[in-house]
Amino acid sequence: MKVTFVQLDGVEKTIEAVEGETLMEIARDNGVDGILGDCGGSCSCATCHVYVDEPWQATVGKPDDVEEMALEMVYDVMQENSRLCCQIQLNAETDGIRVKVAPGEY
Ligand code: FES
Repeated sequence: MKVTFVQLDGVEKTIEAVEGETLMEIARDNGVDGILGDCGGSCSCATCHVYVDEPWQATVGKPDDVEEMALEMVYDVMQENSRLCCQIQLNAETDGIRVKVAPGEY
């Protein structure tokens, strides 16, 4: 399955990924600019903030309460489609997902 990240400079990176991985792991392991994943995916750093493209928003759904709290760290650049990509796990339904890396202070 494939995942596409649009980096801050506008350059798109499409990566071949494996079901069960999170978007953060895929980004980190493939050098996507702007995704640090500092907390290792425990939903506490917000250095994996992305904007989910419209067609995929319903598939991935909204952040839960814990993720909402972590997203408050990036409230200044938060949008309706903000998600922390360590909380998005790939499955058959997310094959082809496209997200934009959100700007941050890190
Ligand atoms: S990697 Fe830290 S919140 Fe996602």
